[in-house]
Amino acid sequence: MKMMKPAFWSGVVSVFAMAIPLTNVMICQQQPVGNGFVNNLMPQPASLTVAQGQLVLSPQFAANSTGFTDARLGLAIRDALLQIKQRTGLEISLHDVAASNNAVLSVAVHGPGEAVQSVDEDESYSLTVTSTHVQLDAATVVGAMRGLETLLQLVQPAGENYVLPSVTIHDSPRFPWRGLMIDCGRHFEPVEVIKRTLDGMAAVKLNVFHWHLTEDQGFRIESKVFPKLTSMGSDGLFYTQKQVEEIVEYARARGIRVVPEFEMPGHSTAWLVAYPELASGRAPTGIRRQFGVSDFALDPTREETYRFIDRFLSEMATLFPDPYLHIGGDETVSPEWKTDPRIRAFMTAHQLKDPDALQAYFNQRVLKILTRLHRHMIGWDEILNPALPKDVIVQSWRGQESLAKGAREGYQGLLSAGYYLDGMQPAGKHYLVDPSPSNTELTPDQRKLILGGEVAMWGEQINDHTIDSRIWPRTAAIAERFWSPENVTDVDDMYRRLDYISVQLEALGLQHISQEDASLRDLAGTETIEQLRIFASVLEPVSFGERYQQQHTSQLTVLDRFVDAVRPDPPSRYKIERLTRDFLLAPREDSADRQQLEGLFHGMLATVPIVKQQMAVSPRLSEVQTRVEQLPRLAQAGLEAISYLSSGKKAAAGWKQSKLSMIDDAKKPAGIVRFTFLDSLTALVNAVSE
Ligand code: ACM
Repeated sequence: MKMMKPAFWSGVVSVFAMAIPLTNVMICQQQPVGNGFVNNLMPQPASLTVAQGQLVLSPQFAANSTGFTDARLGLAIRDALLQIKQRTGLEISLHDVAASNNAVLSVAVHGPGEAVQSVDEDESYSLTVTSTHVQLDAATVVGAMRGLETLLQLVQPAGENYVLPSVTIHDSPRFPWRGLMIDCGRHFEPVEVIKRTLDGMAAVKLNVFHWHLTEDQGFRIESKVFPKLTSMGSDGLFYTQKQVEEIVEYARARGIRVVPEFEMPGHSTAWLVAYPELASGRAPTGIRRQFGVSDFALDPTREETYRFIDRFLSEMATLFPDPYLHIGGDETVSPEWKTDPRIRAFMTAHQLKDPDALQAYFNQRVLKILTRLHRHMIGWDEILNPALPKDVIVQSWRGQESLAKGAREGYQGLLSAGYYLDGMQPAGKHYLVDPSPSNTELTPDQRKLILGGEVAMWGEQINDHTIDSRIWPRTAAIAERFWSPENVTDVDDMYRRLDYISVQLEALGLQHISQEDASLRDLAGTETIEQLRIFASVLEPVSFGERYQQQHTSQLTVLDRFVDAVRPDPPSRYKIERLTRDFLLAPREDSADRQQLEGLFHGMLATVPIVKQQMAVSPRLSEVQTRVEQLPRLAQAGLEAISYLSSGKKAAAGWKQSKLSMIDDAKKPAGIVRFTFLDSLTALVNAVSE
């Protein structure tokens, strides 16, 4: 990535415009139905029917597998029982889990699935819960894993017990490719971060971990053939081959494919630090610390480059069994491709009219290598070129149009535009971006070429202490977009379920909530952060691009500021938005929405004296001084607006304008963070009459 802004919000439907009921009876039911079932499932299944009754969980809960079985399935069942045990506090035995005779849970799998999971893996399953039995049927072990995750999400409290409500679910994914890309090049992420991320992915049924392993700022995978790649290009931060094998295995145990990405010919400074002879012209003198697009690129005109890539990819193919391998291909800007007489002469001799044609030539040569290695090529949308055969996958990041263009030309595609987490957009916006909406102009056959999408977590401004809060819980909402039927678009219901899944993800080991508190304690130098936490809860990081403008981050920037502590789209944002919307529908004095909104604004006011004291003794906290000065005025404006609206009184002339200009002021950059509730406050102020 990327200094460019994808125009991904154009054409996105208004957040509140759609609340399409699902075809199946009970889906999106917030109130308990007959059997107490509250639908907290994320992603929503393709089909769900709720019956009367429920299964009360007890320490005797046991499982067996009645069809095909193998070690992977046994471990998946054991892990599910362990999680039920942890969630319920019941002393469920984990011995001989798959062989129990009086099993409450029967798992019937027809076969192992693919030896190397591919995009064609059958992930479907059926799950039936009655008051005495749970039946899980699946064609493959991976399908059973998906069903077990659904089962875990069905566990809910009922009086003194935990129960599984009686339901029948038939489920399969809408898209076969549901990915999360993590850039470990800009900032290295330790193995335990990758593992807990894979746990979270499995919980929400994502199935591709796209591992961005090389960047201008670091070469992150051990090569035994070319050891200088890491000894000179990684600052000592890289994955050993043994760790890679461990992660590939860990992912397979969760039904997740690992697709590695090796950026070429651009974004390759770290390769060239070690092997300057591969550079198109000048070679870099060291690892690049600045972000943004660099001028260095592999030289596509030399045979030596292809011999190197051949040997390197041959080695990598032994580590990554997946049928696909990502070659990056984005943002290649090599001045030498325009100026170097030797490169220009090569281009003339090969009838390559411009740098794009030279890159297409490079891609064709790399494709030959990949084909010999039995790997398909994926690249970012810059690789789209008629010179490439139709079995390459184009990953669209600059806008949805390139996905459609690729599909019209017969290329398979993945959508990432719209799922860039560093844009710090709310989950509800990402949620409504559809890789293949039914109102597209593509033909049904062209739509079939769209395999799905990938969430993109670029690494410029994250580290192992902040990555979780950037990925989760927003990614769970996008995972639903990739798995569930197209008409599952109720944003309110998504946020209701997201609160629930977010806590489950934390119980799995993810740290997206707890890291904020830990960082606030660190910033304030005290355990007493109750008020600071309320203050932080109404602020969120600005987008990658805005932060870059304000702070000019590089790889050397220490990511331990207030902006790093706070979370994008924290619960306050949607909560205030929702309360405001409901209050404005009927702004009465006795409304519960009014009381809650007032409570929130009073809570904000109350934080100010203590937070100011804490800032006075913490230089790092004082970076957000402007925000703590602004907060009381904003909260006061909210309270005044609510008071006018609920009493029906008019404000004095000029009141509105003064409040709106104060809100505008609070939108200006300060402290690299922004308030989460300014749109709601604007709506409240605008609703007041003068
Ligand atoms: C990208 O963001 N340059 C793929």
